[in-house]
Amino acid sequence: MRKAYTNASRIIKVLTLAVILRVSGANAQSTTPVYMDDTKPIKERVEDALKRMTLKEKIAVIHAQSKFSSPGVARLGIPENWTTDGPHGIRSEVLWDEWSQAGWTNDSCTAYPALTCLAATWNKDMALLYGKSIGEEARYRNKNILLGPGVNIYRSPLNGRNFEYMGEDPYLSSKMVVPYVKGVQQNGVAACVKHFALNNSEGNRHTVNVNVDDRTLYEIYLPAFKAAVQEGNAWAIMGSYNLYKGQHCCHNEFLLNDILRKEWGFEGVVVSDWGGVHDTRQAIFNGLDMEFGSWTNGLTEGNSNAYDSYYLARPYLKLINSGEVGTKELDEKVRRVLRLAFLTTMNKNRPLGSFATEEHALAARKIAQEGIVLLKNKGNVLPINLSKTKRVAVIGENAIKMMTVGGGSSSLKARYEVSPLEGIRKRFGNQAEVVYARGYVGDTSGNYNGVNTGQNLAEKRPAAELLAEAIKVAKSADVVIFIGGLNKSDRQDAEGYDRESLSLPYNQDKLIAELAKVNKNLVVVNISGNAVAMPWVNQVPAIVQGWFLGSEAGNALAAVLAGDANPSGKLTFTFPVKLTDNGAHALGQFPGNKDEVTYKEGIFVGYRWADAHKIKPLFAFGHGLSYTTFQYGKVTADKNTMSASDKVTFSVNVKNTGSREGEEVVQLYITDVKSSLPRPVKELKGFEKVSLKPGEQKTVSFTVDKTALSFFDAAKHEWVAEPGDFQALIGASSADIKTKAAFKLQ
Ligand code: BGC
Repeated sequence: MRKAYTNASRIIKVLTLAVILRVSGANAQSTTPVYMDDTKPIKERVEDALKRMTLKEKIAVIHAQSKFSSPGVARLGIPENWTTDGPHGIRSEVLWDEWSQAGWTNDSCTAYPALTCLAATWNKDMALLYGKSIGEEARYRNKNILLGPGVNIYRSPLNGRNFEYMGEDPYLSSKMVVPYVKGVQQNGVAACVKHFALNNSEGNRHTVNVNVDDRTLYEIYLPAFKAAVQEGNAWAIMGSYNLYKGQHCCHNEFLLNDILRKEWGFEGVVVSDWGGVHDTRQAIFNGLDMEFGSWTNGLTEGNSNAYDSYYLARPYLKLINSGEVGTKELDEKVRRVLRLAFLTTMNKNRPLGSFATEEHALAARKIAQEGIVLLKNKGNVLPINLSKTKRVAVIGENAIKMMTVGGGSSSLKARYEVSPLEGIRKRFGNQAEVVYARGYVGDTSGNYNGVNTGQNLAEKRPAAELLAEAIKVAKSADVVIFIGGLNKSDRQDAEGYDRESLSLPYNQDKLIAELAKVNKNLVVVNISGNAVAMPWVNQVPAIVQGWFLGSEAGNALAAVLAGDANPSGKLTFTFPVKLTDNGAHALGQFPGNKDEVTYKEGIFVGYRWADAHKIKPLFAFGHGLSYTTFQYGKVTADKNTMSASDKVTFSVNVKNTGSREGEEVVQLYITDVKSSLPRPVKELKGFEKVSLKPGEQKTVSFTVDKTALSFFDAAKHEWVAEPGDFQALIGASSADIKTKAAFKLQ
């Protein structure tokens, strides 16, 4: 009823506005007001609109009016702002002031693969395709702010939200986030890059103060945000829940005023995370523009329809009316909100978008196929040779469980989701018998925020019986495909909590070890957004990292298992053998306590830690196999000495020496041989994905300047490239360097 009333009143407002504009236009014979004139520069339009707004209207546009929207200025014809999660698909509609479903029947989206999978493609074209496609869906659904992408660095394999991010390396995530942002924004939809910054764990996320030194902040945790802002030209950024230097990041003087605005020149809107605002004065002065989600029922405790009580609502107005604060900051915020409107809702030329189309499904599938990582393939168990296979056993809950529902705010109501078992049946079913056994029971819920998978995963049989059945089925088959891993339930890959252990849950390790005993053609597909321990790694010949693959999950996976698609994904984070092989855990600094966490490992995150301590990972950053083989030639450099204003180009020949067409991600790492500060053994500074036919060879070149050689000198507060000896390392992963070249910076 309330919703119906609201809609009706909105329609009346718009009609009234149309009449007013007509009448005033006829009487005064006035030309289009400046703010409505899209031939005028945005800055002029913003100033014109701003001066027409009342104080109340200004306060109104800087905070939410519903779970996902904030008001426009109906009187001036400036539409409302509608945000949506993000980052893997367009979230379904919820009620005005509740988290439960609005019950629309036309809001089932394409579920794209999780960002971990996108990053694992190491393909900037895939990031552009992803951004463009999801942007089209957001536009069609009339959303003008997409709450994504997420680029928080993978610091620990236990962080519940790693699946929504782009891995452990600042260079890789910087390169992948830029095309995503551009792709979204070409639709007239703002990308809202999140969560700025240092949101690297879920437990205690509202209370924990992150202690990190400046060098680590600048070298590891900020680069992807900076790239999104400066190269991607992101129109919005979301503050994170945690604190830094004692202030919540949604109103953080250091992060928002000093770094984001002053150092990087960000002109866009800073949006709070939902319920991330805690203080009116800080919100006024420390760089926040729009407040969402505070004090609303469901996310933080409080009343429903409490929007007037938001920190940037009545409390702000009160401070202005009493003369305690002026309106300068308010005008700044409103200017940015208006600018966003002119770039999105007020842009008459933006395309109309499209929703859950076949083209989008193909995009989702392409990205999923390219992101799947072949971790191990001893004896070429993969691709499955159908001429020799009569019976395929598929085992494991993740072969049937829908993964697009759950996990927190990125949960989706997908138009469809092809499960791995369905995909395998479709692809293999004509040529072989496909038999299934569940093997274990994990999470049977299948519900998030009122979106239901409709699957009934209830299982009454005891664990021992399921295990025995799986072993029997495995024995009878030519090939066994175990599909397990994590899921989107709490304390797995999900928002709000961190994982409790590196191990696979639900006793899967035992099941896998048993399967390996009875069938030597065992393929383990790990579905997760995080590294997991694999105590059975030596017993299992083939291992595939499957991620959360979205609507086309089963089709993409089956294509890779069958060899229709040659795997070309590479890991974007290190798989440690054990938790203490990770820096944060080795030093006992994850997750910290309720109030504090200290990033004692500093810049030594991921492979930087493994390199420094000579720890052999289970699977290294950048690792990923193919069904073909590649041979690297010797790297050459166009010069062996460069000056600080110079560039140097490294080239290497890469040849496909196998019998299938395939793609290889050629990686460039730089080593600073001697430096005044401790530096990582090597750091990723370039990558290129090349496609090669059998026997074909291509030259891959990387041109770097001094930025690739620099570290952040905290004392000087600037990037410094120290003269001396460097090395360019080119390889197939961080642990598989094929060729090196020495050079000097003068
Ligand atoms: C999450 C954000 C999300 C927002 C709105 C928050 O809890 O941290 O990533 O965009 O909710 O759903």
